[in-house]
Parts: sequence; structure tokens; C-alpha cells
Amino acid sequence: IAEDGYRLWLRYDKIVNSKLLYTYLNQVNTIYFPAGTPVLDAARQELLSGLEGLLDKKINTDNNASASSLLIFTKAHAPLNLPALALKYEDLGKEGFYINSTKRSIIITANTDTGILYGVFHFLRLLQTGQSLEHLDITSVPRIQHRILNHWDNLNRSVERGYAGISIWNWHTLPEYIDQRYIDYARANASIGINGTVLTNVNANALVLTKDYLLKVKALADVFRPYGIKVYLTARFSAPIEIGKLSTADPLNDTVKAWWNAKAKEIYQLIPDFGGFLVKANSEGQPGPQSYQRTHADGANMLADAVAPYGGIVMWRAFVYSNASPEDRFKQAYNEFKPLDGQFRANVLLQVKNGPIDFQPREPVSPLFGAMPKTPLMMEFQITQEYLGQSTQLVYEAPLFKEVLETDTYQGGKGATVARVIDGDLHHYPQTGIAGVANIGNDRNWTGHPFGQANWYAFGRLAWNYELSAAQIADEWIKQTFSCDTMLVATTQKIMLSSYEAMVNYMTPLGLHHIMGTGHHYGPAPWITNAGRPDWNPVYYHRADTVGLGFDRTASGSNALAQYAPGMQQRFMDVHTTPEAFLLWFHHVPWNFKMKSGRTLWEELCYRYNSGVAAAKVMQQQWNTLERRVDKERFKQVQMLLAIQVKEASWWRNACLLYFQTFSKMPIPRQYEQPDHT
Ligand code: GCU
Repeated sequence: IAEDGYRLWLRYDKIVNSKLLYTYLNQVNTIYFPAGTPVLDAARQELLSGLEGLLDKKINTDNNASASSLLIFTKAHAPLNLPALALKYEDLGKEGFYINSTKRSIIITANTDTGILYGVFHFLRLLQTGQSLEHLDITSVPRIQHRILNHWDNLNRSVERGYAGISIWNWHTLPEYIDQRYIDYARANASIGINGTVLTNVNANALVLTKDYLLKVKALADVFRPYGIKVYLTARFSAPIEIGKLSTADPLNDTVKAWWNAKAKEIYQLIPDFGGFLVKANSEGQPGPQSYQRTHADGANMLADAVAPYGGIVMWRAFVYSNASPEDRFKQAYNEFKPLDGQFRANVLLQVKNGPIDFQPREPVSPLFGAMPKTPLMMEFQITQEYLGQSTQLVYEAPLFKEVLETDTYQGGKGATVARVIDGDLHHYPQTGIAGVANIGNDRNWTGHPFGQANWYAFGRLAWNYELSAAQIADEWIKQTFSCDTMLVATTQKIMLSSYEAMVNYMTPLGLHHIMGTGHHYGPAPWITNAGRPDWNPVYYHRADTVGLGFDRTASGSNALAQYAPGMQQRFMDVHTTPEAFLLWFHHVPWNFKMKSGRTLWEELCYRYNSGVAAAKVMQQQWNTLERRVDKERFKQVQMLLAIQVKEASWWRNACLLYFQTFSKMPIPRQYEQPDHT
């Protein structure tokens, strides 16, 4: 059978290392796992089928704990006569788990059924990645409470910024027809700790809130519930007008409030654990409270009040900017939301994109992080590669996510990392969250590019524990997705870990940003001046002229820097000490400026673009060495895609250098002269 990638990282193929297989078989010969609830049944089924695949043997279960070597139970159902465990259940919270092994047995325990589910997936991962089961003493608790995928899926099944086919939600055949894919989707998410999913696009369609659609949503919620996953919807702010026949959507109008209250009630009657709403308001043409001279807080609070009686939340997006404003787009979200700190209800989270512009290859962090101590800020990452080569390029995003999470905002002093903002540690938020815009579609392998799966995986793993390293996550993912072959793992890991920096170099080195083709955002177009809105024009961002390149955001320019805490301002204030990776985000730099390498800015730009192309070629060569270590289908797919990537890397370099050269008027240094090194 062709390996089509459908199984993702949950492949459970028989372990090839026979010694290891034999050891595992001895360690896991009988299982004590009382179940009987939907979540425990799902966990049990996953464990048994996973083990059957990995160990190539049906493992027996036994109701007698003392006759079993693998014991799985919640706190409330701990078997009697169990030796005392070295754990405090209160440390595990609602979702954490504990795995412990002694000579006699292995134990997986938790406070809740979902904790057990996560423990089981973790246990399976240990086997899939060939780890020893001896002396296990693992306590694992998620750092962030709401770990959510955002699907930008439309009701007609098109996916905004989706590059892997059409939406996996088949609204036409729901609610009666339950596609196996829904179950496998839930399994995959549960295996990495994702516990929520927003089914619909932020550019929302109010129809999803009508009865017919809510029944379909309920069907999906019923499938996901046993996997610990809550369903959320996007709420179109003008829904009361569009589907409620009201004449206004003013959030302070009593009829409007009553309409949303009734809508929430209707939803919760169908889906008692409905998660809540995600809202894009007054941004890029979406309706919102400002259409009625109300604030974002007025709008968010009105919806928050509607879902509060049922424990729901509202995730209100901070991605707002207006072309009517002459202000630097970088500054607009902060200007809008910072003054509202403290005005939101307790069940509102403000969902902030990682950077101030829009999911660029590399952005400094949004100045909102750390600046709103009284409002839970949640992270919005984009897993789908809108600006990162979409689904033809292998770009492993864990290094991007990590870079953002580890950035020190210096709010209130050193050590105030973005991770500590969003996990609530810094400001003691009552709720915490992280969202990733999904890269999932109905392609056979879910994500189009086989390596897109790694980004879905990495998002989930980091949402659970942002302290994992990008290398560690790659290592796990490769072993589960391909195999534990040492050469394969080492080489693939190298490819993945170099891919992010390679892409930044051949697309937008040194802090260039938003120079992609307008609209589709695929490929270079730094020359565009008629994008429809001035703030969508690449020239607005790179500001190339005969003097130099880059956007002055210091006090002599837009002064966006002033939105950061002093420590952060310091980092970027001086052109001579700004980390070069962010240079052109904050400074308009003369072409002759001396860089750390001794090269001029122009030479450095040529050097970076070329090293990006060279790195893409190395990735290609490395992959080619793996021909006999990967199944034919996926080897070939990745090989073909890498060929496209190398071609596109050259396209980026050639287009950008030739365009910027019309300003620098400087020659491309000889060693970088060739349009293509192939
Ligand atoms: C980007 C993207 C849009 C999307 C928007 C958003 O601008 O190109 O397609 O709707 O982000 O996050 O709302």
C-alpha cells in the first residue's frame, strides 16, 4: 500500500528493532485499564490499537490490577493495594498526567479522564520513538489552558489561506454522515494536546449560527468530545441583522443583547460544552462595534455576557488596522487596545498575532505582549504558510514559534518573556490561550506538503510545553512520521532545523517584510505600488530609495519603538546595535552601512539572499541521500517539492536583488553574480 501520509504521526507500524520489541513485549504484557466513559473508552481504544500495531500482538487486558504490568487509572479509581505513588495529584490539574515505572509495573494516572487520554498518547509516543520504559518518572502538565486550532474554513468549503485542498468539514453531508477523518482529526489533535478548535473563518459567515448549521456543528462536537476537544465558532458581528432580522447590531442595544443571549442559549442546549466565540471585528472590512461608535470592549463584553452563564469564552482578535489612518500599521493594534486594558470581562481573551504586521517570515513581537496586564492576551500563530512559501516549501516553524515565545518583552524588567505573558505567569491572567491558524485540508496527507504536518505537530507540542526545543520536537515527529532510522532522523532533522533561516534569507533577510505578491502573498513583488490600499503595498514596508533600505520606526520615523518597554526599545533603537535580523524593521539604513561582517548593507543583502538559495540546495542534497530510507511515495513527493523550493528561492533572490539594485545602483559582488548557481 502506498504511504500517503494520511496517518500523520500516529502510524503505529511494527517496531523494527527486534531487541526493543522484545523488551516492550515483556514490559507491556497485561493491561489494567478500567474505562466506561467516552474519553476513557477513546483512550483505551487508542492504546490497544496502537500497541497492537507497534508490538504486532494483541495485548490482554485484565480487571485484576496486581496481575497487570501496565496500570492506567484516574485518581478516583486507583486500585487498592497500590504502593504509594510519589506524586501529588493536585499538581496535575485538570489535564496533566503522571507516568511512572518500577521493576514491577508501569503506571499512568491523572485526575481526570482527559489527563489519562494525554498520558496514553504520551506513552504511545515513547514506544513510537523507541525510548526506554525503565525508570520513567514523568509529570506533564500543560502550561497554557486553551490550546486551539483556528480553521479559516468557509461554509462553501474553500479555505482562506489554505493550501491543502478544501475544508475537511463537509457541511453538505453533516450532521448525518460522520467522516472517519473527523475522528482521525480529533485523535491527531488529542495526541499533541490540542483541546479546542474554531471551525470557521474569522472572516465570518453568520449562517453558521443558524439552526441547520448548529446541528452540524453539534455532530462535530459530539465526535470531538471524547478526545477532549471543544468546538468554537466565529461570530459575525452583524449576525443579528443578517440572520436575526434586526435593524442594528449595536452591542449596547437591548434587543441585540437579547438576540445574542438567546443565540448562546440555543447553542448551549445543543452543545453543552461549546467553547465560545472568536471574533474579527472592524478589521479588513469586517463589521464590528465601531460601526456603532462603540469600542472593541463594548463588543467583546456583550458577547462575553451571552456565553458567560455557560462557561464560554470570547477570543477577540487584536488584528485591526485601517488604511484610513495615516499611522504606521505596526502601531495601530496597540493604539487601539492598550487604552482598553482592564475594560474587558473576565471571560474575554484578546488574541494577538505574534508580530505587529501579519505573519511575516520574521517579525519582532507585537508590542501588546506584556503591555496589557489586566487583559488575558493569547497568542495567534499561523501554522498555514501564507507568507512562508505556502505548501510548496519545506519550512519547519518550531524555530519561529520558539523565537517569539522566548523573546523578552522587558515589561516590568528583564525576564518577561512572551511565553510568560501568555501562560499567565507574569500577570496572573485568569485564563490563558494560544491559537494556531490551521494548515489542514482534505488532501490525502492533510497538509499538502508532507512536512506541513510537522508544523501542526510542533504547534501542539509547544502549546502544551513551550520549553521543548525545536530539535526535540523534530526528532519526535520524524521518528513517528517516518522511522527511527538513525541516519534518516539525523539528516531530516538537519533539513528541518535549517529550513526556517534559509527561507528568511531567500525571502526577507535582515528585517525586510511584506514584500510578497499582493493578494496571494506567494512569491516576490517588492515593486508593487498599486495594491488597492497603500498599507498593502510592499513599497510601504521596504522604503527603498537611493539612500538606503528599511522602515525607520525610531523617533525620527514612525516611532513605533516607543510602544515597547524600555529594555526592548534599547535593543532596537540604535542602528549599530540592533540585531541584524531585525535591522530593516526599525531603520532606514544607507546602502553603504557597515555590517558586522564588514560587508556593506548592499553586499550583505546579496550575501543573505544567496546563502538562502545555497541553504535550500543543501536541503535538497541532504534529502536525496535518504532515498533508500524513506518510502517511495513520500521520498518522491518531498524531492519534487524541494526542487520547486530551490527554484523559488532563486526566483526570490533574483527578483529582489535586481529590484533593489535599481535603488542601490551597486554591482552584485562577483561571487553572488550568477543568477542561478545550478
Ligand atoms: C491576513 C490574511 C487574511 C486574513 C487576515 C486575518 O491579512 O491575508 O486572509 O483574513 O490576515 O488574520 O484576519
